[in-house]
Amino acid sequence: MEFFLDTADIKEIETGLEWGLVDGITTNPSLIAKQGKNYLATVQEIAKLVPGPVSGEVLATEFDEMMDQAHRLADLAENVVVKVPLTPPGLRSVAKLLDEGIRCNVTLCFSSAQALLAAKAGAAYISPFVGRLDDVGEDGMELIDEIVSIYQNFDFDTKVLVASIRHPIHIVQSAQLGADVATMPFKVLEQLFKHPLTDLGLERFLADWKKTGKSFED
Ligand code: E4P
Repeated sequence: MEFFLDTADIKEIETGLEWGLVDGITTNPSLIAKQGKNYLATVQEIAKLVPGPVSGEVLATEFDEMMDQAHRLADLAENVVVKVPLTPPGLRSVAKLLDEGIRCNVTLCFSSAQALLAAKAGAAYISPFVGRLDDVGEDGMELIDEIVSIYQNFDFDTKVLVASIRHPIHIVQSAQLGADVATMPFKVLEQLFKHPLTDLGLERFLADWKKTGKSFED
């Protein structure tokens, strides 16, 4: 399973890359707005830094403007994947952009029916938002289970990119279900490392060796 960071924060991206754990990045208008920087320049800066796919989202909702923004995003760098919303103009753009060799990530997916449409349109990625479904009392991971099995039934090439991840259990369940990618906030990537027995065990190992009064070389 690939790990993407869901952020537009350069420091977080640099740290994730240093750890060797980041295969790609997803951004959205809200995440870029938080940085207070230019929209396209931010996507370009991230795409330069990260060797893997970087999703940059269109801001338009109508087909012609969406296509224009998609081209401008795709022109920024070869690894830019254009993110479009799961709407009729969005999916129309996906098919058209695919003809031109431009890959799309279809965002704001909340049902299996929507995921089926995105795959039929030729999306490179579908982004089901598990956390936001959990927030309204639905089971986000159940949706991932459904989409993974539907895509397997028909051998769709569309990758399941689990989005709106809130905690490590979402990642573990995504892996168990065979999702292709999990995109997570930096905080969740940090949380994946954590176990109190790891900290305690390390503390004890070091304390026991310290008691000997010897160094690493002794
Ligand atoms: C997906 O690509 C989105 O950027 C993201 O995962 C949305 O998550 P949120 O529900 O935490 O805003």
